[in-house]
Amino acid sequence: VSLSGPTLSEQDFKAFARLVHDKAGINLHEGKRELVRARLASTIREGQFRDFREYYDHIIQDRSGDELVKLLDSISTNLTNFFREPGHFAFMAKKFLPELEAEQNKRGENQLRIWSAGCSTGEEPYSIAITVLDHAPYFGQGEARILATDLSTRVLDKAAQGIYAADRVSEMPRSILQKHFRKGRGAWEGCYRVRESTRGLVVFRRLNLIEKLPFKKRFNLIFCRNVMIYFDKETQARLVGSFYDALAPGGYLFIGHSESLTGLGQSFKYIQPTIYRK
Ligand SMILES: C[S@@+](CC[C@H](N)C(=O)[O-])C[C@H]1O[C@@H](n2cnc3c(N)ncnc32)[C@H](O)[C@@H]1O
Repeated sequence: VSLSGPTLSEQDFKAFARLVHDKAGINLHEGKRELVRARLASTIREGQFRDFREYYDHIIQDRSGDELVKLLDSISTNLTNFFREPGHFAFMAKKFLPELEAEQNKRGENQLRIWSAGCSTGEEPYSIAITVLDHAPYFGQGEARILATDLSTRVLDKAAQGIYAADRVSEMPRSILQKHFRKGRGAWEGCYRVRESTRGLVVFRRLNLIEKLPFKKRFNLIFCRNVMIYFDKETQARLVGSFYDALAPGGYLFIGHSESLTGLGQSFKYIQPTIYRK
């Protein structure tokens, strides 16, 4: 965190915090003031704004909404990893996929719909795709679709490319790396790219989780991990209600390890920590 650059008064911080809360549901308490200042300092410099006030007015006046998207991009925290919280992928492999396959086999169906809500740079949806292909190739031959959405266009661009530095994939088993990644050459020397056959399962879209969800078809499984921590209780409760509606009966919801649905007044059945079922 750089300490140089323009200062952010309490009043200006409050204005930004209110805007970010209204537009993205993200809660920035007073402790985040220095983080916000540091993250916005370069935008202010590059945009040649005199101070935070002028930058704020510029965002408000921009009718295209592009400046708002850019602001939310720089505020959001995008930390993620391949197979983060591995218990969820083990649960998919051992329980969710076999159960669904058996059930659909009976009905002569072959449809799998998973949603990674708040997918960041793509590690989560690609880990889901790898798990599906390795543990239930049955669905790979049918209609398997992983929808991956995020608020930030910056992370979505990176996610869609599916190119990762070697240290991002170094902890994955060799067998997975060989099967699902291709070593980069030329400009991508030293990087790994998710293979087309694996990438093909994932569709990336921009979606703001505090807005009304646009889905017609229901999902069998929703991942929304380490996203709701930034939202206030009301927003969380509303979102969890929408997740319930967006799931097919018997569908699962996975949340982050530091999150819980307790006190949100929802209808899910608790299965085990961070795993819920409709
Ligand atoms: C910490 S990352 C979590 C990534 C991944 N789910 C994981 O657990 O590794 C949080 C993501 O939520 C996204 N996010 C924050 N507010 C959002 C909103 N209102 N709508 C959609 N995505 C949002 C951020 O852009 C960021 O990419």
